[in-house]
This record gives sequence, C-alpha cells and structure tokens, in this order.
Amino acid sequence: MKAVVLGADDRFRLSEVAEPVPGPGEVAVRVAYAGVQWGDVLVRDGHFPLPRPFVPGFEAAGRIVAVGEGVPGERLGEQVLALVGGGGFAEVVTAPSALALRADGIDARTAAAAGWIAPTAHELVDAVARTGPGDSVLIHAASGGVGTLAAQFAAAAGARRIVGVAGSAEKADYARQFGYHHVLTRGQFPEELGEETFDVILDPVGGATRVANLARLASHGRLVVYGNLAGFDPVDVPVNDLLMNGQSLLTYNSHLLSGTDPARLAAGAARALAMLAAGSVRVDVTAEHELGDVEAAIANLANGATRGKSIVRVG
Ligand SMILES: NC(=O)c1ccc[n+]([C@@H]2O[C@H](COP(=O)([O-])OP(=O)(O)OC[C@H]3O[C@@H](n4cnc5c(N)ncnc54)[C@H](OP(=O)(O)O)[C@@H]3O)[C@@H](O)[C@H]2O)c1
Repeated sequence: MKAVVLGADDRFRLSEVAEPVPGPGEVAVRVAYAGVQWGDVLVRDGHFPLPRPFVPGFEAAGRIVAVGEGVPGERLGEQVLALVGGGGFAEVVTAPSALALRADGIDARTAAAAGWIAPTAHELVDAVARTGPGDSVLIHAASGGVGTLAAQFAAAAGARRIVGVAGSAEKADYARQFGYHHVLTRGQFPEELGEETFDVILDPVGGATRVANLARLASHGRLVVYGNLAGFDPVDVPVNDLLMNGQSLLTYNSHLLSGTDPARLAAGAARALAMLAAGSVRVDVTAEHELGDVEAAIANLANGATRGKSIVRVG
C-alpha cells in the first residue's frame, strides 16, 4: 500500500509499505482522509523519541475493513474516526477498537479534521477547566485547530466572555467567526488586556506567555496547560501564590489518556463528535492536500501559513 514515511533525514516520502494487519483488540481502517496536526511538527522536529522510518499521521477517517481477535465482526464497514499513535498518512491504518470512533452523521473530511482537536478542545473546556455560565475564557492559538473549536465549546458551555490571541491581525479576523468576543494579536498580549483577568485560560504556548497567563488568572481561576508551542523551557510556578488566590493549575494530555484510559478519551470524543454532527459546533477545513504533499502540509502548519484545519486526501 502507499504510505508516507518519515526517514532518518527528517524527510517525508511517499513509499510502498506492507499493509498493516489488525492485532487482538484492533481494527484496520481504509483511510479516506487524514488530519494534519501540531504533533506532526513535533515528530518531524524530533521532540518524540520515535524510531525511523516512521509512518506519521495521528488521525484518520475511513471505513473498517478488517477486525482483529476479540473485535465483533459487526464493526466491519463502519465509518469511523481513528485516533492513532501513527500510521494515519497511509491507505490502511490499524487502531485500537476503542479509539475507532463511530462517525455517524459526519462526512470523512470533517471526521478527519475533527481528529484529536475535537476531544481535546471539548475536554479542556468542559472536563478539565469546568467552564460554566458566566465564566470569562482566554484562549491562545485562537485561529488553529484546538483554538477554533475551544471557543465554540466555551460558548456552548455558557461562557460570558471569550477572548482569543492569534499570530497576526489577519488570523485574529479569521478567528472572530468562531464566537470570540475579542481577539488580539500575540504582539498585543498581554498589555492590550489592561487589568482584565479570566476564570479560564487555555495555554498551549508556554514560556513567557505562561508566566503572563498566571498573572491574568482571576481568583478561583483555572489555567490549563496543554502544549509548548513556544518551546519547552521550564516555567516556575509560585504555588503558594496560587493557594492564596484559590487558583488552579491543570494539565491535559490526550495522548497519555489514549493509553491510560482510552474509554474516557473515547467518551469525550463521542460527546464532541455528537455536537459536530448536530451542527452546534464546526471544524473549518481550509486546506486539502494529496498524500504526496504531506511534507508541505506539515511545513505550512509549522511556518504559520495555515488557519483552521488542514487535511490530506488519501483514498
Ligand atoms: N495536550 C493535548 O492533549 C493536546 C492535544 C492536541 C493538541 N495539543 C496542542 O495544542 C496546540 C495546537 O495544536 P493543533 O494541532 O490544534 O495546531 P493548530 O492550533 O492548528 O496550529 C498551531 C497553532 O499554534 C500557534 N502557534 C505556533 N507557534 C506559536 C508560538 N510560538 N506562540 C504561540 N502560538 C503559536 C499558531 O498560531 P498562529 O497561526 O496564530 O500564529 C496556530 O494557531 C499544540 O501545542 C498541540 O501540541 C495538545
């Protein structure tokens, strides 16, 4: 079958590889579309210790064409979104049955685009930050995959005010359509906010932005850390100061959850996919690439040339 292979030279090449066979508890999915996400950039740049050659691609939508031992044969033919630890940029990918999620009422393009961002944005807003009516919410990387969905989930949860931070004025304009009341640029953060503080802050950035976020947290506020877009430098957190203000620092790691508690990940994903199917939230696909163009698709994301979500057409 055709698959994209990341070599030891950090290059992605369209190659012929053996078709994977589902092991016990797994299904094989014939991929129609796969999503491009920041994890692909981290893999390319060597932040995850994965053996090379490696077939990347963490989210793929398509049809179940084979089941492994212990998986009911009735699953054959199901249209699913597969959340995987790699292998998605290929004609066939295997996935744990529990993470091959029924994508009822959602077309394959949208399901691939929903990928990990749908469960992540939903869990960040809902289960982790416990966003509720009247809350004010600050969302960084506002025009990206997680950011555009998180604003919509926050609105659905009844947030009173939703503020975003994006990389440029053009991206700030783009992000506004997803329910933000105000979007500032990275250069305007945090000064433009004046004295404003937030009940919930979603931080995939790290570094100086994380320190600035701590200073913007309201009493009893929740800062949720879920990425390191600006780099992996450690950030010192004054825990006793947090205690005096009743503030909480929380984290979320969906990849870890896929191993430790796949049922919880699947349940969160199902709630997010149901909202997508009902049309109460949407994922904006702004770029569609061929399988042979994965390298360019990932480079575009890394270079800030994308907004919303990019996908790859496979089948
Ligand atoms: N913990 C988890 O479970 C989990 C799950 C999924 C994703 N994530 C994390 O969520 C983040 C977004 O992932 P995604 O796949 O949805 O990507 P994305 O948001 O679609 O694209 C990347 C975003 O990062 C922003 N960005 C890039 N460099 C930045 C920097 N130096 N400072 C601030 N913002 C920067 C870009 O903003 P502009 O385009 O406006 O410049 C863009 O919106 C990533 O950090 C990813 O690792 C975490």
